[in-house]
Amino acid sequence: MNDYHVSVLLKEAIELLQVKKNGKYIDATLGGGGHTRAVLENGGLVLGIDLDQEALYFINQNQISNIKNQKLILTQGNFKDIARIARLNRFEKVDGIIYDVGVSSHQIDSGERGFSYLKNGPLDMRMDKENAVKASDLINILTKGDLYELFSRLGQERRARVISDRIVRARGIKAIQTTEELLEVIKDAYGLKTKTLSPFIKAAISKRVFQALRMAVNSELENLKESLPQAIDLLEKGGRIVTITFHSLEDRIVKHSFLEFEKNKQGKIITKKPMIPNEEEIRNNRRSASAKLRVFEKLI
Ligand SMILES: C[S@@+](CC[C@H](N)C(=O)[O-])C[C@H]1O[C@@H](n2cnc3c(N)ncnc32)[C@H](O)[C@@H]1O
Repeated sequence: MNDYHVSVLLKEAIELLQVKKNGKYIDATLGGGGHTRAVLENGGLVLGIDLDQEALYFINQNQISNIKNQKLILTQGNFKDIARIARLNRFEKVDGIIYDVGVSSHQIDSGERGFSYLKNGPLDMRMDKENAVKASDLINILTKGDLYELFSRLGQERRARVISDRIVRARGIKAIQTTEELLEVIKDAYGLKTKTLSPFIKAAISKRVFQALRMAVNSELENLKESLPQAIDLLEKGGRIVTITFHSLEDRIVKHSFLEFEKNKQGKIITKKPMIPNEEEIRNNRRSASAKLRVFEKLI
């Protein structure tokens, strides 16, 4: 565990990855490096990828000796380019790949990154600070229909229509630039009049809109869909892909990709049903509550 991020399903993921001494592993979502550290401790070599420059900086500070000993290679990039990144780093044939998708606690807890409805900050939400599109661009440019589609599809938000309507009205007066300004609009759409809201109410009304925006800004579903077929090609015979997802649409992408691999006789699904955190983990880390872990093993 570290201050940057509390890893989810850590023990289960590492056991299922079946780490071999000097085996090669790709951590496609480095974050605070919890899964990477466990692979290194089990004798594996790791290529760690993250979109977020801050994750790379954190791991650089914390893994100096593994980096020096060439047990750990770090690269800033998008796992949708995993084949190219692996080739550039001579990690073409690997024994395992882990995806622990979504956001890190560090990203959520940094107000200035704009991921959180609990902290005021610019409406940014980019995991990669070089990304051209911020959440404020989507909020101020998308049509009412596109906002509705975004909040209902990615956020499964019941009030998507009213919220989209209120956003278009509010931005007609002044562009929405901060997380607090967006929260105010959502509050209005929910008909809440009180000036201050408890964190519980803030979460209840805005969690889905913030999540949908984040997923759209970072093209999260598209990246996962593009990456998995490349991942299967990178695996050695007997190698495994382990995925941890936090949203039903992400889990659906993994499930269907794995079924497709099985249909193509590329290997077998190890987890007939996804593995989920036990009660103790959920009690200790609320963010783990929606996690689902799936594993595929390559056989040819
Ligand atoms: C849940 S955290 C990973 C935590 C990590 N497994 C740990 O134990 O500390 C997810 C990380 O994936 C990164 N990420 C999300 N989408 C990505 C993508 N398409 N390519 C590379 N990194 C991505 C995020 O920036 C974030 O740091």
